[in-house]
Amino acid sequence: RDDAGRLVHELTLRTGTTELLPGRTTDTWGVNGAYLGPTLRMRRGDRVAPLVRNALPQATTLHWHGMELPAAADGGPHHLVPPGGRWQPSWRVDQPAATLWYHPHPHGSTRHHVHRGLAGLLLVDDDRATGLLPERYGVDDVPVILQDRTVREDGGTDTAGIDFAGTDIVGLLGEDVFVNGTWGPVLRVTSERVRLRVLNASNARVYDLALADGRSFHVVASDAGLLPAPVETDHVPLSPGERVELLVTVRPGERLLLLSRPPDLGANVLYDRLAGGDDEFHLLLLAADDRLTPSPPVPAALPAAPPVPTPPPGRPDRHFELGDFTINGRTADLGRIDFAVPLGTTERWRIRNTQGVPHNFHVHNAAFTVGGTVPPELRGRKDTVFVPPGAEVTLLVAFGQHADPARPYMFHCHLLAHEDAGMMGQYVVV
Ligand code: C2O
Ligand code: CU
Ligand code: CU
Repeated sequence: RDDAGRLVHELTLRTGTTELLPGRTTDTWGVNGAYLGPTLRMRRGDRVAPLVRNALPQATTLHWHGMELPAAADGGPHHLVPPGGRWQPSWRVDQPAATLWYHPHPHGSTRHHVHRGLAGLLLVDDDRATGLLPERYGVDDVPVILQDRTVREDGGTDTAGIDFAGTDIVGLLGEDVFVNGTWGPVLRVTSERVRLRVLNASNARVYDLALADGRSFHVVASDAGLLPAPVETDHVPLSPGERVELLVTVRPGERLLLLSRPPDLGANVLYDRLAGGDDEFHLLLLAADDRLTPSPPVPAALPAAPPVPTPPPGRPDRHFELGDFTINGRTADLGRIDFAVPLGTTERWRIRNTQGVPHNFHVHNAAFTVGGTVPPELRGRKDTVFVPPGAEVTLLVAFGQHADPARPYMFHCHLLAHEDAGMMGQYVVV
């Protein structure tokens, strides 16, 4: 903490090398280390002032994905830090416990900077949620950051697809999936239940998380906080930028594999295949001890934040058409503000994918609930949602606690090649 009592995380963005596959040296970027970044923890009520230093050869930013904060602290494309420069935003954390993350957001290069390894978890803790779920970090509360990558024989990274050459429709799809930077990882499990905080930090790949023997597990949280109650299921999809917290119950001595099944992308057969819909990956082997320490029982209910209330009568819905690298027919322009929302209101947003290609949709500084009949694991507060081809998704959106008529927040597709190609707009809270 600094003299003013603010929590200061020192974060240096740097280059490095990582042995992602045995015997191969890969150039990577990381935060404080060579690849990915440290897990940051912030408690509700904390005043924070992370100090970001850019030791990279390129200008970049650091965005706090899922955080409700003043637009000046958001770290979007307007907050470029030049090579050798530093940036220290500050804000007060005031939102429910959640698994958030941070990553760069330089317009036009986000896909490269994230893919090189600039990403990390940002956990918000809240007393209301303490004691109910496993919470020994690294023991029974474990980060699972998923990033796919094709590593060539010489260790170089194959970035085919990242610029839409040939038949690429979603951007880069790597041949291997790395978990926290490790290929084929094994997690020793010492307790009856383990909580996995899974982040999809991939450019374009959608996962469908499942256990190899088909057994069910519990989903306890999504992007922006806990679900109202644990949801028992045998699979859960996760598109780029989304997070999910899983509670997996293991038996003594067993080996249990977390994998990604071929995801249902809702596209036609050809586009489904081109977007990774046929791909299956082994992600993480859970290796349970012969004697397991007891875990808290799966709670019947969780102290979730209330759902976003419906907008006041008379407030028109807002429509977003996801088109060919556009939103509502326009490509990103950092000089254009698309609309203003009044502080303290909620709005109904209708997001329609007019394409045959899968998209998703993320809003900065906002939490939303997904409307209509949705699967139970989508009923919590979220900030990113998958929008299948031809589908319309309805969101009830709440806009944080900060107004600034001059500084915008972003909304965009979180398939990073789509975002970089212009599927992004800006709004202000007034
Ligand atoms: Cu995770 Cu605007 O981004
Ligand atoms: Cu964001
Ligand atoms: Cu998209």
